[in-house]
Amino acid sequence: MALYAVVPAAGVGKRMKADRPKQYLQVNGQSILEHTLTRLLCFPMFEKIMIAVNHDDPFFHNMPVSKDVRILNCDGGKERVDSVLNGLNALVQQGADVSDWVMVHDVARPCISLNDIQRLYDARNEHGAIIGAPVRDTMKRTDAQGNIIETVEREQLWHALTPQLAPLGVLKKAIEFSLQNNLPVTDEASALEHVGLKPIMIAGLASNIKVTHPDDLAMITQFLTNES
Ligand code: C5P
Repeated sequence: MALYAVVPAAGVGKRMKADRPKQYLQVNGQSILEHTLTRLLCFPMFEKIMIAVNHDDPFFHNMPVSKDVRILNCDGGKERVDSVLNGLNALVQQGADVSDWVMVHDVARPCISLNDIQRLYDARNEHGAIIGAPVRDTMKRTDAQGNIIETVEREQLWHALTPQLAPLGVLKKAIEFSLQNNLPVTDEASALEHVGLKPIMIAGLASNIKVTHPDDLAMITQFLTNES
């Protein structure tokens, strides 16, 4: 039983308002994509890392990391879920078995720690496991106009992060079922939930933030600088 990674990296990152997709912005002399892939490559258990990039991406193929023997690439899709499914299909074409395990990790989370990857792998149940962050603030539900309706109990509420781990064949079928039935798939666990599966939630490091807004770059820079 092998372990693979799929890295969706075909987003355009509109909210970043930059001149290029956010994964190609530089932090400490390297793009966010290079930081993320370099970290994943340090985890020896990954047999191959499949990265889903836009087919007309002018940046990826010029980066030294794209030539690493453990890095493969495939075309991304319209939505994140399409990029992930393309990655799973490409792994199968490369000889991965449906009983192998796959860890999906957003390219936009360059501060992932090897320790969290190992903890996720060790803690998985037969359906998989995901990294999350417990909700710390008081949670409110509002109506569409913003009027507060109620306070939502935050016990057992989590932010779902990545990486997310599942058996390759199980995840592929769950995503295909969800897409066929127009069910929302915002992360891998949501597809698994749609077919009645219950992966386990593991608390990860707070530094594993997703670069989304321009302000996040300063925070990422600080985390990456402190760790190097
Ligand atoms: O936009 P957001 O940051 O939420 O995207 C999460 C991840 O999904 C990013 O790593 C992004 O590159 C990826 N993505 C993708 N294909 C898309 C949209 C997003 O691979 N069509």
